[in-house]
Amino acid sequence: MSIAITGLSSLRQAPFRLCRALWETIPNSVRRTPAMFRAGRYIYHRYTRHTGKFQSHYTQFMRNPPLLATIATLASKYPRGAGIKIASIGCSTGAELYSVLYAIKNLRGDLLVTAQGADISNVVAEAARRGVYIPDVPAAEGGLYAAGRAEVASVDVPSLVELLEPLPDGSLRVRDWLREGVTWRTADATDDRLPELFEPQDFLLANNFMGPMDDQLAERCLRNMVRLVARDGYLVVDGIDLDVKTRILTQFGFRPVLTNQREIWEAEGLKTGWPWLRWAREPIDRSAGDWALRYSVIFHRDHR
Ligand SMILES: C[S@@+](CC[C@H](N)C(=O)[O-])C[C@H]1O[C@@H](n2cnc3c(N)ncnc32)[C@H](O)[C@@H]1O
Repeated sequence: MSIAITGLSSLRQAPFRLCRALWETIPNSVRRTPAMFRAGRYIYHRYTRHTGKFQSHYTQFMRNPPLLATIATLASKYPRGAGIKIASIGCSTGAELYSVLYAIKNLRGDLLVTAQGADISNVVAEAARRGVYIPDVPAAEGGLYAAGRAEVASVDVPSLVELLEPLPDGSLRVRDWLREGVTWRTADATDDRLPELFEPQDFLLANNFMGPMDDQLAERCLRNMVRLVARDGYLVVDGIDLDVKTRILTQFGFRPVLTNQREIWEAEGLKTGWPWLRWAREPIDRSAGDWALRYSVIFHRDHR
């Protein structure tokens, strides 16, 4: 029976696979024409947008270097010795928040950073608090969702030595200077009471968990995220449907930070495959009226 169902589903997928294979033969120069952008957007909206909506705990150290560098540069605007607040919602096992802390503290060791990570799964929040990782093994095993890939691949260990201290048993522990001032908790990002748990944040990271939600829930969740950002603070939001993001952030008057926009947008190898994969990056189309907001990941809450 299950073989029959698998066979039927492969059969249904066949035209989709054929179209994708044909699409991949089209040269890049042609794919980047307005007509092909329109065709790609049609395919994405008609066939892809509602597929593959599953949550996972996947996260990785130093995943998007241009994004980390830009966040650190933005943090440089704060005066010497200032206190700043950073929160990562949907933090998983902590690799993202620790990486952001590394980028900021490396550039501005004088800032007094208070950081909080929150995730709906207490198992991954605990793993983040421990901050111990085994190369090639995801620390999120036993969490609420699929663990995904490991936070650290063996080949990347030498490049992460400033963040992660090798332990005698072969595991890696986040260095103490990055753990200072960080707390971890369990919380649901869709809960309207979330702002009661967090003070307004100078940097609010909300990445890679709203994409799998249906539009209504993602909108509600993003509104919650917006409420956590301080006046003059920054929202970093990625891995969310672009129409939902553009609609809500326009309403709240957030301005996109355009520094390194293309580098940030194109940095993550796992986000290729548009228009055939839901989580893949739509290529930057500057003829779209909303391109500045649509293809940005960092947004400034302008208080003027
Ligand atoms: C794919 S991971 C992303 C981790 C990290 N933000 C990053 O980008 O590297 C998504 C995380 O969001 C968490 N998550 C999903 N729904 C959530 C919710 N409603 N509230 C809080 N966390 C949630 C999941 O448990 C998972 O650990």
